[in-house]
Amino acid sequence: MTPDEKQGNRLAFLGALAGGLAHEIRNPLSTIAMNLQLLNEDWENPETERERRTVRKLGILAKEVKRLENILDDFLRFASGHRLTRESAQVSEVLEEVLEFLGPKFAQAEVELRAMLDEDLPLTRIDRNAMKQVFMNLLVNAIQAMPGGGELMVRSRRDGCDVVIEVTDTGEGIPEELMEKIWQIYYSRRRTGTGLGLPTSRRIVEELDGSISVVSEKGKGTRFTIRLPVAASS
Ligand SMILES: Nc1ncnc2c1ncn2[C@@H]1O[C@H](COP(=O)(O)OP(=O)(O)O)[C@@H](O)[C@H]1O
Ligand SMILES: [Mg+2]
Repeated sequence: MTPDEKQGNRLAFLGALAGGLAHEIRNPLSTIAMNLQLLNEDWENPETERERRTVRKLGILAKEVKRLENILDDFLRFASGHRLTRESAQVSEVLEEVLEFLGPKFAQAEVELRAMLDEDLPLTRIDRNAMKQVFMNLLVNAIQAMPGGGELMVRSRRDGCDVVIEVTDTGEGIPEELMEKIWQIYYSRRRTGTGLGLPTSRRIVEELDGSISVVSEKGKGTRFTIRLPVAASS
């Protein structure tokens, strides 16, 4: 075995180990979540101060369980990045589905969506679900970068042998010195962030032979650009 192969084996082993651990934690966690839910129903109408305190604590527990579940979900998505499938897909359609799903979130955050999707995009060979995850990551990040609302532009177009997708927000922007850091595993500037969204996205896009890049200006906004190769027959 070459040193590279050894290193690869070691990483695969660690990935499987950590993935297994995350799965093992998830089952008891969902039992806890379910019982908290049942307890909550039992205490639906608190009468004394003591009972109200109990209900408040139940609320805190439920919130923290939710947070742990989010961390595990993000982690498992990152750890399972290596099992991508390839199918012919029109990226604008995939984007459309994600935008529709996130519609209520945009409204709630007072984010105005401007979608410019090329309906005649050539096909790409991608893993639809994985790419949905990537778009979801970028769009949720964009919403979070605009706490007071703003404008979100989502655009798809063909550029030579590539399909290009741009997600542009008018949010807080990313300071120059952090432009590299944001791609690191577990790097997050948000209190409840996991720091896995961008590294997972990069990994998925690169595994599909594409690229992802970012330009940003502090205080003005941020644009993420994804390029995916057009399928050979298109
Ligand atoms: N559109 C954006 N505008 C400003 N900052 C962003 C944007 N997208 C990502 N970031 C920064 O990159 C960090 C890492 O993002 P991500 O990997 O998705 O992790 P998380 O969202 O859990 O913090 C975020 O905490 C945030 O500071
Ligand atoms: Mg994120």
